[in-house]
Amino acid sequence: MSEPINVADFERLAEERCEPGYWGYVVGGAGDEVTLRDNVAAFRRRLLRPRMLVDVSNVSTRTTVLGTEVAMPLMVAPTSLQRVAHAEGEPAVARASAAVGTVYCLSSLASVRPGELAAAVPDSLRWFQLYWSRDRGFTRELVREAAENGFRALVLTVDLPAAGPRERDLRSGFGLPEGLPMPNLPRPLVGAHSFHDTLGEIVDTSLTWRDLEWLRAECAVPLVVKGVLTGEDAALACEHGADGIIVSNHGGRQLDGVPATLDALPEVAEVVAGRAEVYLDGGIRRGTDVAKALALGARAVLVGRPALWGLAAGGETGARRVLELLRDEIRLALVLLGCATPDDVDPGHVRVRE
Ligand SMILES: Cc1cc2nc3c(=O)[nH]c(=O)nc-3n(C[C@H](O)[C@H](O)[C@H](O)COP(=O)(O)O)c2cc1C
Repeated sequence: MSEPINVADFERLAEERCEPGYWGYVVGGAGDEVTLRDNVAAFRRRLLRPRMLVDVSNVSTRTTVLGTEVAMPLMVAPTSLQRVAHAEGEPAVARASAAVGTVYCLSSLASVRPGELAAAVPDSLRWFQLYWSRDRGFTRELVREAAENGFRALVLTVDLPAAGPRERDLRSGFGLPEGLPMPNLPRPLVGAHSFHDTLGEIVDTSLTWRDLEWLRAECAVPLVVKGVLTGEDAALACEHGADGIIVSNHGGRQLDGVPATLDALPEVAEVVAGRAEVYLDGGIRRGTDVAKALALGARAVLVGRPALWGLAAGGETGARRVLELLRDEIRLALVLLGCATPDDVDPGHVRVRE
């Protein structure tokens, strides 16, 4: 294939390079994958409304997330097992994100501890994603390690009290590769297929919104709640101390039949009303998708699979190229929409397709 010029090209390249079982793990979703497909389709159900003769001689994609300046309103979502995509693993994606000037969120299902990632890529803008285990002492240590090692936010994933039904993995028998370290879990995941079931046993399923206050007190950095899909939960997240909310359905991998994240975003943004920063992930493949999310109330978005496709296709260079392509697409979308900055994108720039 000639030089990849968009995210879809990277997807095709990555598929050629990945072992089929792992590929199914990456691109698959829960159940009938209705939500997985809808995340992408929702962007096609919205049309952009560009404004003409606006001064776009000096457009910038720069913005801030929780007070940190970033080069664009797009960050890298936490995804597991990055070392399976490429031997360079998590540090490669963190380096790629640092080179482009955006946030890299390290997953709890990484092969490195927060301290190791910080030592390997000290100049990264890093967040840490937490799966809150039943072992509270372990959780406390992990959260402390992240805060002490320059992670600027803690992202609590709340949509995985059990693993979603990933039927592709059941069929392929995809399991954890032998010897892959999982140092951010209190006990090993069982390697046989459907290792997600073990993850479901490790996370604390008794958690309620009140426990957020314990975490808030333990955690010296801003707290972001990932996996909110309703105005009701957005209100509770704000009331219990969240500084940020990620509208997310885990990339269609958890409860099948929930709304596309772009459809859930307006109700969350309305209820939050500026009390916390609102982000979105799920289905972002183009700069114009980012513009639509900004118009409907997101401060920034995150990408999961696109970064993994870049990593699988070309290690750190591939991941960096994907982020650069998206950054350039966001810039051009702003220029053509008549917006000098991400903050200038407002609800008037988008409408539903009839
Ligand atoms: C292969 C894969 C692994 C993931 N692992 C995690 C994880 O460890 N923790 C987490 O909070 N979310 C995880 N997610 C969800 C992502 O953070 C994100 O919500 C989702 O990928 C966004 O959708 P997109 O892939 O369409 O961009 C994972 C997603 C994928 C595709």
